[in-house]
Amino acid sequence: MECIYITTPLYYANAEPHLGNAYTMVITDTLARYYRSRGYGTFYLTGTDEHGDKIARAAADAGVPPKEFTDRVSAAFRRVWDDCDITYDHFIRTTDSYHVQFVQEILSWVNQSGDIYFGKYAGLYCVGCERFLTEKELRDGKCPDHLVEPTLIEEENYFFRMGKYQDRLRRHIEDHPDFVRPDGYRKEVLAMLREPIGDLCISRPKSRLTWGIEIPFDTRYVTYVWFDALINYVSGLKYQGEESFQKFWPETQHFIGKDIVKPHGVFWPTMLMAAGLPLYKHLNVHGFWTVEGQKMSKSLGNTVAPLDVKARFGMDAFRYFLLRESVFGQDPDYRNDSLITRYNTDLANNLGNLISRVLAMQEKYFAGAVQPLSAAWASEDVALRDRFAEAERDLHGFMKELQFHRALEALWSALDHANRYVVQTAPFTMIKDPAKALRVGEVLHHLLEAVRTLARLLAPFLPDTANELRALLGIADDARSLNAPWGQGFLPGHKVNAPKVLFPRVEAALKK
Ligand code: MSP
Repeated sequence: MECIYITTPLYYANAEPHLGNAYTMVITDTLARYYRSRGYGTFYLTGTDEHGDKIARAAADAGVPPKEFTDRVSAAFRRVWDDCDITYDHFIRTTDSYHVQFVQEILSWVNQSGDIYFGKYAGLYCVGCERFLTEKELRDGKCPDHLVEPTLIEEENYFFRMGKYQDRLRRHIEDHPDFVRPDGYRKEVLAMLREPIGDLCISRPKSRLTWGIEIPFDTRYVTYVWFDALINYVSGLKYQGEESFQKFWPETQHFIGKDIVKPHGVFWPTMLMAAGLPLYKHLNVHGFWTVEGQKMSKSLGNTVAPLDVKARFGMDAFRYFLLRESVFGQDPDYRNDSLITRYNTDLANNLGNLISRVLAMQEKYFAGAVQPLSAAWASEDVALRDRFAEAERDLHGFMKELQFHRALEALWSALDHANRYVVQTAPFTMIKDPAKALRVGEVLHHLLEAVRTLARLLAPFLPDTANELRALLGIADDARSLNAPWGQGFLPGHKVNAPKVLFPRVEAALKK
């Protein structure tokens, strides 16, 4: 059985989920649904990152003990993803005891194999990034992502011999051109590997930070938060049992935003090498969403909350916008206007109209009963079926390349073809001539097949809509009803339901 393991970053449990996080969830959820529908064994992991300086400070600011604080924030993340109907298989928290134990096991293995040493270090630390920055990474003496001067920290700590694995990692990336995708990010990692990467400081003295996983061989220290959080990708899977790990780990696809390429592209694979574990298959890197052309930030007050968008437009419209409006790897822009245009044009007009026209005619001309197809199909009927088959083939190719926008474009071009087929065959005119009633029945039957095909192909992208379509067609949610070849989905006489407005047009009043 073919398998896929899909992961999201673990969100820092110090803030509310926002548009950027929702985007990662929507693309990974779409992929998980897509691969499940294709019969793949699928495991989909998400969760929260709960240790370290950043969280300890946020908890202190809130005046609550860190565990109580992260319990609350982690639950809020989980609630939002549940409300968005994100179909993750497991939600991991880095405070979960099985994770803590596994991180300690890895530390012990790596220590025993001689890849950890004790030493003194001075470096420039950015709490926002939760890592030391090199002089080269700074812009005007500041962290380019958080725009603050890093703090000089000098202390005795444990170090992981990361540098030892540098050449092996570089060779691996050169030999596996799609290890990091898209290519721009692969080049970024290779550029990092052209300079000495040095060793990684993996502990914090408890005198400075207690909120972390204790180093198993020195109780005066806790583990550096990235050395803890990255391991979730393995601990979350091992928690399902060794069999799951063996089955899914070789098919790992990590999804992250572009600001955390270094921990995932350099720290993590070298940690895996030191732990004697195979490397992940792909690191997929997406860009950063801006909002109305501006960087999204709390201080600008322009953060977009996923549940607000859902409440205004519905989850499927939000998903459609995120997937259709962005190019994977690039920086997309969230604009209210573009969302409303997409909604009205693509969903209300193109999709909504097709469904309501077809079902309205079926209802009016045949009381909802599907009519038989003749043995020989007209050429326009064959062309309609072929157009959908072509869209499906294109869609599979685009999904492999994470080109969600093009997969949807392919579906919408078949949808356009179906709308043109309605105009060209003109069943609403033919029905006036009783001699043509048989042909009208056939035309509508083919159109219902188009709707059934849409119900199947849209399901990973717009799950609620796909369910509505199935319900309108009166077909069951099983592989046979959905996958039956074109022309074999409905028995003559099967009753479909009266139309329903799936996407009421959003009028100017809502455009604020
Ligand atoms: N806790 C770490 C990840 C550890 S993974 C083992 C972390 N957390 S985060 O909460 O700061 O970020 C989570 C994800 O949100 C990252 O992938 C980050 O790139 C992404 N995004 C943050 N702002 C974003 C946008 N404006 N747009 C798209 N994604 C954004 O980093």
